Amino acid sequence: MEANDIPFAMGLTASEGWSDIPSDFEALLGYSPNAVFVAERSKEKLGMVSAVSYGAFGFIGCLIVQKERRNRGIGTELTRYAADHLERLGNERIFLDAVQEAIPLYERLGFRRVCYSMRFRGCVQCRPDSRIRPIHDDDISSVLALDMRVFGADRSYFLRHSLDNYRNTCRVATQDGRIMGYCLATQTQKVLRIGPLVVDSGADTAECLIRGVTCEEGPVRASVGVLERNSEAIALYRNIGLQETTPSVRMIRGGPVPERVCGEEFGIGSPARG
Ligand SMILES: CC(C)(COP(=O)(O)OP(=O)(O)OC[C@H]1O[C@@H](n2cnc3c(N)ncnc32)[C@H](O)[C@@H]1OP(=O)(O)O)[C@@H](O)C(=O)NCCC(=O)NCCS
Repeated sequence: MEANDIPFAMGLTASEGWSDIPSDFEALLGYSPNAVFVAERSKEKLGMVSAVSYGAFGFIGCLIVQKERRNRGIGTELTRYAADHLERLGNERIFLDAVQEAIPLYERLGFRRVCYSMRFRGCVQCRPDSRIRPIHDDDISSVLALDMRVFGADRSYFLRHSLDNYRNTCRVATQDGRIMGYCLATQTQKVLRIGPLVVDSGADTAECLIRGVTCEEGPVRASVGVLERNSEAIALYRNIGLQETTPSVRMIRGGPVPERVCGEEFGIGSPARG
């Protein structure tokens, strides 16, 4: 994909009601010119897929085929192309978040189910908290180090992209001067998209971050995704009144499934980037 394909990509995501914004694709293309592929025939654009390589593991996402071109094998070909590409780059594990209807397509290509990738949406009552503050330049190395430890790979390019473009909705939680967690969020037309949300310790820090992520006080419409295995996060989101929307299924090709690490991801970055 090239920058001039972004309107095509936005047309596809809009037709599916997804919440992507142009900056999501700019970030992917800035990360690697091979992070998104477009299927074309006789100059007609048919569909797209993203392939984000972190080295040891990667993510496939943004799989959409033009409605009138579906059920002719294009989605399968795009996914196979993206997976082969990630494997050639050395990624031993490839993850994706699948909608229910697409699971057979992925299973045919060797992906297996790991767990649900839950989605929550609703109004968060925002309020200031003495432990929560905006992210300063001096914090960035600690934020990146925490993220690397919890996520297990270097996604600093994407974190810096969010920090550069959406700093006013980025927060850290601190205690005695130490960074206990961070939250990045992107304001889209409809919703404040939260993620990544990563904490060193516990749901309490995550709740403070999610309530302190904007300068506004009062209700803010927000969305967040989290893996099913983080039961603390799921309990938190239910408690604060977010509604569960249709979950995706986290799938993997290659293996093994990584174990939980110390610290937790309370919000995934995005399905396409992990
Ligand atoms: C998923 C999608 C890219 C498949 O593209 P395609 O070119 O039709 O795919 P193929 O012809 O290679 O394979 C067809 C498979 O797509 C899947 N599929 C069918 N309808 C689907 C739908 N509404 N949504 C998602 N996947 C679907 C099924 O697995 C189907 O296989 P089956 O007929 O054996 O069940 C296309 O349906 C699409 O763009 N859907 C909307 C966006 C989306 O849901 N993307 C997947 C996110 S995980």
